[in-house]
Amino acid sequence: MKIAIMGAMREEIEPILNTLGEYTSEEYAGNVFYRAEYAGHELVIAYSKIGKVFSAMTASVMLERYGAKVLLFSGVAGGISKDLKIGDLIMASKLCQHDVDITAFGHPDGFIPESSVMIGSDDDLRSLASEIAVDMGIDLYEGIIATGDQFVASSERKSWIGKTFHADALEMEGASVACVCHNFGVPFFVLRAISDTADGSADVDFDTFLQSSAQVSAKFILEMVKRLGD
Ligand code: ADE
Repeated sequence: MKIAIMGAMREEIEPILNTLGEYTSEEYAGNVFYRAEYAGHELVIAYSKIGKVFSAMTASVMLERYGAKVLLFSGVAGGISKDLKIGDLIMASKLCQHDVDITAFGHPDGFIPESSVMIGSDDDLRSLASEIAVDMGIDLYEGIIATGDQFVASSERKSWIGKTFHADALEMEGASVACVCHNFGVPFFVLRAISDTADGSADVDFDTFLQSSAQVSAKFILEMVKRLGD
């Protein structure tokens, strides 16, 4: 199967490329797309650059130009839920855009007409991930991930996002990738390892834990690739 593996930052896909060892690369639309074979699958791997616009573009290219039939996102997130500690893994059940605001017209926060506040990820991919987590003996948290074009480093903003969307974690790309995959009818899965808790020390924690948390997520994603059928 053709599988897309996406991150937002170089650090999020580097552990995957390092494990693969051999791959080719192609430049297209301002990004580098890496291609490799792994566990009987054809992989296309890329990091988009940060934010909703770049991630939507990269996801679209992976589906349309490279013909990916499944998209797996690997990366880091800021934790909202008190249950999530740095290094913990969360898979998105649903994703929303916390910075979409047309409430002036009476719409709920995060709502875009002709779309929906939440976009759900693929049930089968989440089930597979849960099985893998049991086999690997790791805790895999499942919850709502809120996305926006903001690095959140404030307890007030974090708790607003948590309350408004019942979100457990936040980041800057998941919901835009979800939107692309949903509209193309391609199953997707968003996995994040916690790098910080989106409060006053988020910037320092992010820099400290980006690499180690990205590695945790990447390792799990490669395990999923191994266990995906044709
Ligand atoms: N990704 C990881 N930590 C984040 C934060 N605090 N805000 C936005 N995206 C993040």
